[in-house]
Amino acid sequence: MAKQKKNDTMEKIVSLCKRRGFIFPSSEIYGGLISCWDYGPLGSELKRNLKNHWWSEMTIRRRDIEGLDAAILMHPKVWETSGHVELFNDPMVDCKTCKSRFRADKLEESKCPNKPSKSPIEHNCDLTEVKQFNLMFKTFMGPVEDTSNVIYMRPETAQGIYVNFLNVKNSSRQKIPFGIAQIGKAFRNEITPGNFIFRTREFEQMEMQFFIHPSEDDKWFEYWREQRFAFYKGLGINMDKLRWHEHGPDELAHYAKAAYDIEYEYPFGWQELEGVHNRTDFDLGRHMEATKKDMRYFDERFDEKFIPYIIETSAGCDRTLLTILVDAYDEVEIKGEQRVFMRISPKVAPIKAAILPLVKKDGMPEYAEKVYDEISKKFKVFYDVAGAVGRRYARMDEAGTPYCITIDGQTLEDDTMTVRDRDTMEQTRMKTAEIITFLDKQVNG
Ligand code: GAP
Repeated sequence: MAKQKKNDTMEKIVSLCKRRGFIFPSSEIYGGLISCWDYGPLGSELKRNLKNHWWSEMTIRRRDIEGLDAAILMHPKVWETSGHVELFNDPMVDCKTCKSRFRADKLEESKCPNKPSKSPIEHNCDLTEVKQFNLMFKTFMGPVEDTSNVIYMRPETAQGIYVNFLNVKNSSRQKIPFGIAQIGKAFRNEITPGNFIFRTREFEQMEMQFFIHPSEDDKWFEYWREQRFAFYKGLGINMDKLRWHEHGPDELAHYAKAAYDIEYEYPFGWQELEGVHNRTDFDLGRHMEATKKDMRYFDERFDEKFIPYIIETSAGCDRTLLTILVDAYDEVEIKGEQRVFMRISPKVAPIKAAILPLVKKDGMPEYAEKVYDEISKKFKVFYDVAGAVGRRYARMDEAGTPYCITIDGQTLEDDTMTVRDRDTMEQTRMKTAEIITFLDKQVNG
């Protein structure tokens, strides 16, 4: 019963995302493409705001982190050196009867297509031996499709940072400890994508690599764990739904000495949202060995030359966006009517405020348009004049808009408007300049 309710919640969120223009199935008029999604008007604003917020927290507000935007296509040797060609595999099994493909390490969580209420183990499916499946997408550089022209779609943005370590260090004149941050697309040919935008084959990552002296790795690992947990608190995510998961020896990636995941309790269970990893000197060491470029750093504090250790924070942008949507979703019964409120933080909400003339006459629409022109110089606002004001509030609550500004009879007399708070439903009268200051505090404060 509880499981059914959780599935219902996901279905409701997916349907709201389509209906309200957050997220659509990719190439939908052709029947869609499995695990690919397009961000609509509200979704693309939400995603942009999320990326800007992360970028601001991880670069603009920090003197010790620089930004980077590396190419998706990289020299194929990068992926040999990093270990991805050899080791970036998931174990896979096929069902000999229905030809379905499953991740061998996630069989308990999988469903047999012939009996969806059971896993392939419970259904005694006739499975093949486990095979290793490399998750990197391959393509060809140039017109000739032979093995010497194979290149990969990057499966993580991190390698773009490592190969630019010397460029960024020398051009920015940063001293260790310092970080490089990047937001960008990554691609993985996942065996079992699913749960809406949780696990897809094309996704965006928000990664930061922090370069340190090896003796300080524990200190910085703890520091970044705290910072990253606080990031989600700052977004208003329910702290009871977040927890840490420490990777055991059998879970650690080939590059990591220690790793913790921040997990969120989605309607489909506790799952990884972001990883914080101690990657040691593995990456720079390997690239130094392969290229013979000296990646070592001379640190005056230690009077020593060494290959920097790296503490990595690696968040999925789409997965964070899903977390925001799931966490924001709230159903409330008001006067016998079931209403949905998307309680998205003003920091990332797609529309910051709606401008609503109470009625379509008495000069209210004209006044409202002027207010719209003024506030939209700084914030994404939405003008809506159609229908009863209660209906217009309800539409905005569903879109996650934190404030509704209503122009009424009194506005024309004293230039004040009601500002309705989506979550408390309180209404406060303010003038345009006060509203701009108020929004600035809520959105950027
Ligand atoms: N550079 C390290 C790295 O990529 P990861 O744990 O494989 O580490 C980091 O991925 C984050 O990227 C995950 O915590 C998740 O948020 C996101 N991510 C990974 N695979 C994904 C997928 N197939 N779909 C959506 N997000 C994904």
